[in-house]
Amino acid sequence: MSNQEKDCDTGRRNLMLATSAAGGVAVVAAATPFVASLAPSERAKAAGAPVDADISKIEPGTKKVVKWRGKPVWILRRTKEMLDSLKKLEDRVSDPNSEKSLQPDYAKNLARSRKEEFLVVIGICTHLGCSPSEKLKSGNAEGMAVDWEGGFLCPCHGSMFDLAGRVFKGQPAPTNLEVPPYKYLNDTTIRIGEDSTDSKGA
Ligand code: FES
Repeated sequence: MSNQEKDCDTGRRNLMLATSAAGGVAVVAAATPFVASLAPSERAKAAGAPVDADISKIEPGTKKVVKWRGKPVWILRRTKEMLDSLKKLEDRVSDPNSEKSLQPDYAKNLARSRKEEFLVVIGICTHLGCSPSEKLKSGNAEGMAVDWEGGFLCPCHGSMFDLAGRVFKGQPAPTNLEVPPYKYLNDTTIRIGEDSTDSKGA
């Protein structure tokens, strides 16, 4: 091979290397916007995109659990008797008007909800984060005291909550169960994780 041929060959090789390197950059450059376009929705999911819950099949007196931001959100459909119990317990719960507890303004009422019938709360004890068990029936049928009106019992250190998630006096849990932001999309669907400023969400 002559010197000229050698130079030519080296030049071609350099060109090929440069071309393939440029191709690699192009691939990376093309991939970057794709990844960037995925990133926000993944971030939104991790931060807690809203979750819609169908409440049409929840029987009166029972609850459904929906996951939002990795936490269990309870949706309890209360009967009239269950709602009546709330007034009776005002002297026995430590924060009856939810002054020290976490909830949106529209849930700062006796029923702690937008619509009385449905309670929406995060099912995590405000003491050290255990998951309370449901003790929805009144009386001592589930091992509770005879004057039990129905509610929830945290198995970890015994905190008791009523049917609005209000903690009873003298319990380790410092505040009522937290109410997340939510709104009604219609009569049968609740969107958890999003507030509403118009009257339809109420
Ligand atoms: S974590 Fe519920 S009472 Fe301690």
